[in-house]
Amino acid sequence: MKEISITTNFTAYTAVNELPNDIQSLMEQAIAVRKNAYAPYSKFRVGTAILLDNGKIVLGSNQENAAYPSGLCAERVAIFHAGAIYPEAKILKMAITAASDTNKTSSPIPPCGACRQSIAEYETKQDTPIEIYFMGEIGDIYKSESLKNLLPFMFDKNFL
Ligand code: THU
Repeated sequence: MKEISITTNFTAYTAVNELPNDIQSLMEQAIAVRKNAYAPYSKFRVGTAILLDNGKIVLGSNQENAAYPSGLCAERVAIFHAGAIYPEAKILKMAITAASDTNKTSSPIPPCGACRQSIAEYETKQDTPIEIYFMGEIGDIYKSESLKNLLPFMFDKNFL
């Protein structure tokens, strides 16, 4: 018997204006598109901005549904849209922000498990890491150098 441990690492920034310039702009676009969330049920708005290696930025916000599971998170709206219109482009960076209409989110809000699995698919496909920056409405921004930090021991095509 042996113990196996996995360590993951993040960088914390304390304010948007402390981010590198390109990421600051990406996060500002995520903040702006967050307003477009269709979130009448949860009142929880998420915005995502994705930078591709062709220079394009693709945005997404969460889209809810009266049949709750039929809705989709902002991260998957954005990444599926990027895959649909630029199938050959690599995803370089993602900025994610989440804000509630009912309380101020002040800690970094990471992508949910299903979104992590979806992002993992693209990272595996392109074989280069995707930088992920995530925050609440205010407060620290966390940076992950790769999706792998958020989903260690992930399931991918290599197991099939
Ligand atoms: N949501 C996202 O858009 N991304 C996540 O990673 C977590 C949750 C959305 C789904 C739903 O519309 C609302 O936030 C509350 O869960």
